[in-house]
Amino acid sequence: MSAIELTKLTLRRSGRTVLSGVDAVIDEGEFIGVFGPNGAGKTTLLQALLGLLRPESGAISIFGQPPLHGNPLAGYMPQRRAAMAELRLTGWDVVASALDGHRWGLPILGAEGRRQVAWALETVEAVEFARRPIQHLSGGEMQRLLLAQALLGKPRLLLLDEPLISLDPRYQQAVVDLVKRVQQALHITVLFTAHELNPLLGAMDRVLYLGGGRAKLGTVEDVVNSAALSQLYGAPIEVLRVGGRIIVVAAHGEVEAHAHRHDA
Ligand SMILES: Nc1ncnc2c1ncn2[C@@H]1O[C@H](COP(=O)(O)OP(=O)(O)OP(=O)(O)O)[C@@H](O)[C@H]1O
Ligand SMILES: [Mg+2]
Repeated sequence: MSAIELTKLTLRRSGRTVLSGVDAVIDEGEFIGVFGPNGAGKTTLLQALLGLLRPESGAISIFGQPPLHGNPLAGYMPQRRAAMAELRLTGWDVVASALDGHRWGLPILGAEGRRQVAWALETVEAVEFARRPIQHLSGGEMQRLLLAQALLGKPRLLLLDEPLISLDPRYQQAVVDLVKRVQQALHITVLFTAHELNPLLGAMDRVLYLGGGRAKLGTVEDVVNSAALSQLYGAPIEVLRVGGRIIVVAAHGEVEAHAHRHDA
């Protein structure tokens, strides 16, 4: 069975069409990097997959079912993360609070809840620092806790929205490698949005590029080339390969990475 099927999917927001007539099939167990400039619709697509936004037209199928808000098959790491006002909370508290449905509250968990939190923390290799107050954690360590939250309930699909934002390059690679290990250990499907392609090159099976309301899904080789991206964006795009890195450049400057404003 495929993990995700999009059929002529059109998504609108505030009267504006964000994606129009998108077709795509993602297989179970694939690691998909989702790219596209600010406003291309990456977050909007993830929200539609989660059942938070209804398609204007077309269909979404997730493991053969329509999207369902609160679907236990899908784990989500949102792009806009709640500010953690209570910095004395430990990593354990942060993960446990998601399980209970109370963000940053202090839930009292039963034995099964505690087992789930312990499993998630172990899976993201966070046991060592999970008892420390979060104010003493690095950005990369916090990211692992948020990944642990997304893994609660053992989802088969992981939707990660910009997990690399505000991490330095060394931590970016560590987060990608961790997600890859988790994906392989649990045999799950991953959609991972990002602005920079390079940290994901060793981890992705295929890429989904969004632009101009349209989408292109395929291998890095098939999608990340001048012809395919120029067609998608309707503007000349150049793709340079330098020492194993890929640089995507538009006539007005680099499309990825530097030209983008981040909100986290
Ligand atoms: N809650 C919302 N209400 C109305 N419009 C929205 C909302 N969220 C996003 N939009 C609009 O939908 C379009 C797609 O936004 P989206 O956040 O999906 O893009 P993105 O690819 O995730 O961008 P970024 O790289 O900045 O995260 C944008 O034009 C945005 O302004
Ligand atoms: Mg976004």
